[in-house]
Amino acid sequence: MKPWKVIERAPAPGGGELVLHQRGEEFAIRVNGRELMSSRQHGSEERMAEVACARLSGKRPKVLIGGLGLGYTVRAALDRLSPGAEVVVSELVPAVVAWNQGVLAPLAGRPLEDPRVKVEPRDVGELLRAAEGHYDAILLDVDNGPEALTQEGNRWLYGERGLASIRRALKPRGVVVVWSASPDQAFASRLKRAGFDTEVVETPARGKGGGPLHTLFIGRL
Ligand SMILES: C[S@@+](CC[C@H](N)C(=O)[O-])C[C@H]1O[C@@H](n2cnc3c(N)ncnc32)[C@H](O)[C@@H]1O
Repeated sequence: MKPWKVIERAPAPGGGELVLHQRGEEFAIRVNGRELMSSRQHGSEERMAEVACARLSGKRPKVLIGGLGLGYTVRAALDRLSPGAEVVVSELVPAVVAWNQGVLAPLAGRPLEDPRVKVEPRDVGELLRAAEGHYDAILLDVDNGPEALTQEGNRWLYGERGLASIRRALKPRGVVVVWSASPDQAFASRLKRAGFDTEVVETPARGKGGGPLHTLFIGRL
């Protein structure tokens, strides 16, 4: 088997480093040595978009996706959204945006070139705090689950303050979906306490191809 090669490196604003690895046709982003996203499996990242879009109504939904990763969630959302939709993609590490405009672009069918997409190369927390009753859906996949991995500064997102901020940023009947590599009963309870009708869905990492189960936390206002 071919060895993994490091092809790019970028500092994460809160400390640490994101490293882009390639092995033949495969790509992976690792943060401080731990895999954050890989092109080997992306079924659950796509399912995340599917469950959010299935809960939307209206011709011009506004959707916030954080973060970009390898672009699979953004692509899956675009494939399901109407021509009038707006998709704001928040990405903490500007280099990840550049990688998606370059070597990674073909992986998910060049989603950043879609005219419905607006890329915000900054912390999703900033966008959440600035929004009031703005988004129909918020999709969060910035760590490996509801605990800080990419940067320590993500921790608040999954606590009471973060969930209150998400709630404020959503329109009435809005929906939030949080991706996780594993179940987290405490987070599901917090989501419920924060005022969301909560559903927890388990979904295979490789979609119809199976693989380990990942968890989607769905909160509806
Ligand atoms: C697990 S990957 C996302 C995978 C993506 N769902 C996909 O389909 O490829 C996490 C991404 O979130 C970004 N990220 C981490 N913390 C963030 C934050 N606070 N705001 C915005 N993006 C963030 C990371 O740099 C990384 O690109």
